[in-house]
Formats: sequence, structure tokens, C-alpha cells
Amino acid sequence: MPVREMAPDEALAALFFSDAGLDDPNPYYHRLRAHAPVHHSATGAIFLTRYEDCREVLRDNRFGKATREGDSLIPSSDPAVAEYRRDLLRRRGPDRPMSMLFLNPPAHTRQRGLVSRAFTPRRVEELRSRIRALADGVVDRFVEQGGGDLLEAVGFPLPVAVIGAMVGVPEADWPRFRSLITAAAAGIEAGATVEELKAAEAANAEVYRYFEGLVAERRARPRDDLLTDLLAVDDAGDRLSEPEVIVVAMLLFAAGFETTTNLIGNGMAALLRNPAEMARLWDDPARLPGAVEEMLRWDSPVQLDVRTALEPAEVAGEPVPEGQSVVTLLGAANRDPDHFADPDRFDVGRDEGPPMSFASGIHYCLGANLSRAEGHEVFGSLIERCRSIELDGPLVRRHRMTLRGFEAVPVRVVPR
Ligand code: HEM
Repeated sequence: MPVREMAPDEALAALFFSDAGLDDPNPYYHRLRAHAPVHHSATGAIFLTRYEDCREVLRDNRFGKATREGDSLIPSSDPAVAEYRRDLLRRRGPDRPMSMLFLNPPAHTRQRGLVSRAFTPRRVEELRSRIRALADGVVDRFVEQGGGDLLEAVGFPLPVAVIGAMVGVPEADWPRFRSLITAAAAGIEAGATVEELKAAEAANAEVYRYFEGLVAERRARPRDDLLTDLLAVDDAGDRLSEPEVIVVAMLLFAAGFETTTNLIGNGMAALLRNPAEMARLWDDPARLPGAVEEMLRWDSPVQLDVRTALEPAEVAGEPVPEGQSVVTLLGAANRDPDHFADPDRFDVGRDEGPPMSFASGIHYCLGANLSRAEGHEVFGSLIERCRSIELDGPLVRRHRMTLRGFEAVPVRVVPR
């Protein structure tokens, strides 16, 4: 059935569960936004596709993270999956605290405040020359080989090296995180099966044990790294507990990994599909910061965020009852024609304010500037070293809805 004839729930099902929707969600986003911008779906959740509505919910503290038993987390059409997710929440004991991503104020405010004392803009800026050196290293090798899969050669190794160096994870341990974090990340997808949820739980347990060991080492022998700083943070006597330091380190690792990989992959794919824009950027590298914002907007590495009404609230003037799940489709917000002129056009010169890709409000991405810096250094290094970059094989999408990216980005490069 053509998208323009689909009822909103049909468009939503196609978006999450069909190859066409996972390949290109934008026609479905447009259909929903035009016909049911505040869509009360058959799944029970409300889906938002307008920039202003997403922003309003994300900045309204009457909406928060689902923390109570019985709150629906990520809407799922499979009752076994929904039950497993609720059970997971029930089984979390006090020895295994939540990271800020899952907390509401005041616990969120406290944890984010303490972490922000260690994860400072200064630390990110100090890391800048290191990011540049790491990016130059992986890009040099890539160009020497005449190209290959950009994700394998640059997109995966760079973010893990950057966050690994920052947190203080020894280099020998970086490679094992790729499969672990990928398995853990599968657990947040709406389409996850019970098997994937179990694999995600096992991966999370392994990463937890790993950081437990590393935290004990740092406690015994402090170093100049974020893990040591997190252990030392002290706000008038308030400190992060050791399990909190572990879950925060895990969050920084997981949140900064696949997302930045996909910024690099999706960004390159956008340039390859829009060669005139690629030429504009190559001719004028000063456009790079704007171009990275446009990559984030045009094909957002994170496509959605979920909130629950913690008390009766409203969105776009409509009442929302307590307990109601609301999905903010960040990728759709980024293509809202009321916010971005001609939104389906990829334009490296666009200057219409930030995309919704890092969310908004109290959970606004803590690593936004770090991942932007990685984007600037990788594409800057590619511009410096490559006369041209061309596609060298099919661009195959990973069929994931929340964390959007490719299986591979195969390219051929001609060095300068
Ligand atoms: C292009 C790359 C990235 C994208 C698109 C991205 C996107 C996001 C989004 C949408 C959220 C909000 C989640 C929510 O509201 O539920 C978020 C939160 C977060 N991100 Fe990122 N992120 C990226 C890279 C990073 C990096 C590199 C780090 C860390 C080193 C990081 C750390 C975090 C943390 C700690 C949070 C939780 C903040 C909170 O709950 O208060 N992210 N990110």
C-alpha cells in the first residue's frame, strides 16, 4: 500500500517492522506528522512527530522515565517482551543502582550534577588533541589502504578509543566491548525479542563485572582519568557510591559508542548520496561544524526517546493522563517542515538551529560536544587526506529503529 494511503497505525507498524520503514523512515514520519501529529496509537503509546511537541515533552518534568512497576517502558507489541522488561525492572536491587539515563529528579539531578563535576567541558577540550591524533591515525591507515569499510576502519575504533582513553579503560580491553555493547544496545529496540533481551542482560552483567574490577584497581591506584575523578568527586560530602561509579562508567561507554559510530557512518552516507554537498564541503572545510549538525539532523543516530507522564499533563494542548507513555520521534522532529525549510534536502550550509538528535531538557546528551568533536576531527582528517571518496558497494541498513545506522559503509578513496 502506498504510504500516502496508510492510516496512522499502519504507517507506524511499517515504520518499526517493515524493511521499507527501517530503510527510510521519513515518508512514514511525514505521513504521521501530516495526519496524526499527536498519535494515540494502538500500542497504547502516544507518538509525536513535530519538533515543537517533542521539545515540549522533553523539557516538561511532568514527563519522566518509567521507573515504577507497571509503567510501560518501551512500547512493544509482544506481551512476553513487555513482561520481561517489567521483570528486569523488578529484579534491580539496591546494590545495582540506575544510571542517570533512567532516573528522574531529584535522583537524576544529584547524579548528573556529581558526574558533571568530573565530565567537564575542560576534560573534553583537553581531549581534543588526543581525538585529533586518534582520528588521524585511523584515517591514515584507511587512506593508505585505498579505503574499505569506513565503519570497520574508523567508525568503530575511534569512539571506543576516545571514550576508552577518557574513562581509563586499558587499550587491550577495547576490542571486547564492541560485541558486548552491540548486544546490550539491542535491548533498547522496540522490536527486540526475549532472546535479545536475555543476551542484552548477560552482556550488561559482563560489562558490570569488568568495571567492578577496574574501579577496584583505580581505588587502589588512582590515575589521571575519568574513573579516578568519578571516585574522588565530592560535593559537600555527597559522593558517588562505587556501584554508581560503575553504572555511570558503563553508561558513558555504551552511550558514546554506537551513537558516534553511526554519526560517522550516516554522515558519510549522506555525503555520498549528495555529491554536490560533499563537493561544497570539500571546497570549503570551514563549513565542517555546520555540516556535522546537518548530518546529525538528516539521519539522526538516535531516532526516538520515550517518556511517561508522571502526573496528569498535556501536550500540544491535549490532556495526557498519568502513566501514559509518549514516544518522541527525534528523527521525525528533525524533518519537520515547520522547523526546517525543505527538510528532506541535505544542505551543509543550513543554519536553522540545533537538531533534536541529542534530545532536550534534563537528559540532554552529556556527550554531545564530545561526539561533535569526534565528527569534526574524522571528517576534517578525511577532507585533508582524500581528493575524492566514492561508494564501493551497497549501503546496507542495520534494521534497528532506535539506534539508526548501516551494516557497512564501503568506499574507495583517492589520496591527495
Ligand atoms: C552522535 C552521538 C550521540 C548521540 C546522537 C547521542 C544522543 C543522545 C540522546 C538522544 C540522549 C537522551 C536520551 C534520553 O533523553 O533518554 C543522550 C543521553 C546521554 N548521552 Fe548521548 N549521544 C551521543 C553521544 C554520546 C557520547 C559520546 C557520550 C559520552 C561520552 C554520551 C553520553 C550520554 C549520556 C551520559 C546521556 C544521559 C544523560 C542523562 O540522562 O542526563 N552520548 N544521548
